[in-house]
Amino acid sequence: MRHFLDLIDVPAADLTALLADAAAMKVARKGLPKGAVDPDPALPGRALAMIFEKSSTRTRVSFDMAIRQLGGSSLVLNAADMQLGRGESVSDTAQVLSRFVDAVMIRANAHEDVTEFAEFSDVPVINGLTDRSHPCQIMADLLTLQEHFGTLDGLKLAWVGDGNNVAASFIHAAPKLGFSLTLGCPGGYTPAEDDLAYASNSGARVELTADPRAAVDGADVVIADTFVSMGDADADTRLADLAAYCVTEELMAQAKREAVFLHCLPAHRGEEVSAAVIDGARSLVFDEAENRLHAQKAILKWCLLP
Ligand code: CP
Ligand code: NVA
Repeated sequence: MRHFLDLIDVPAADLTALLADAAAMKVARKGLPKGAVDPDPALPGRALAMIFEKSSTRTRVSFDMAIRQLGGSSLVLNAADMQLGRGESVSDTAQVLSRFVDAVMIRANAHEDVTEFAEFSDVPVINGLTDRSHPCQIMADLLTLQEHFGTLDGLKLAWVGDGNNVAASFIHAAPKLGFSLTLGCPGGYTPAEDDLAYASNSGARVELTADPRAAVDGADVVIADTFVSMGDADADTRLADLAAYCVTEELMAQAKREAVFLHCLPAHRGEEVSAAVIDGARSLVFDEAENRLHAQKAILKWCLLP
């Protein structure tokens, strides 16, 4: 049985195959109504439960449409409405849900709750974002870049701002997919030491600088995310500390002329990115959001048809 918990755990060849499958499925259903089942649905009769401890628009809707297009069905569960929210254990919840559904996607506050759920689950578990990582998002981002550039090999990615959960999953992918990654993060907002150690131990081209201009210098792709992630309490401090890391047109001018901009959304114009950049011609953010759907379908198939 395969869980999709972190990109670290997924072999490079599987990640490449997942991206190819997502791209092929996207082409194969072109022109169909969005609610129509795929021409040759891969997961008929399969049920996916989604547990949300935090808000979501893209993850919720894209996983729901993904399992429907694959011929299956879904249940969206708000953790606060479950007995989980009243103290039922993660392990009991995992064992019970395993009797009802074929796979579980979880968006949780604590990463350990997702790994514990997987430990006790008899069905595949997918990480739909935790405080530590967001692997599904990065599959959609890489699909978007592969579509745009034709390859990931040799691309220079620049992450600017908070070295957060989304940044961590980019770091996890870097050793496997041939791109280099420079993170421009101030002190106090650098990625987790164990993620950076993973990258350097696996020979990835991952670098860290406190200078946003140096991070973006010559980049093919500039990536931003919110300065205040779900669960971050110190919003005012964060906004002040990270203000100099806003991706503006002036910062984009340090990147290659044909560089593109990514953001997983939701975005805060005027904080981590200017409106001119995110709404400008170099922004791929809505292709990126759409690609959550296609990437998720490939992830569901990888988990359920090992
Ligand atoms: N990018 C992303 O995960 O969006 P949601 O929080 O809306 O699911
Ligand atoms: N870093 C953000 C991503 C939201 C999709 C958060 O965790 O809130």
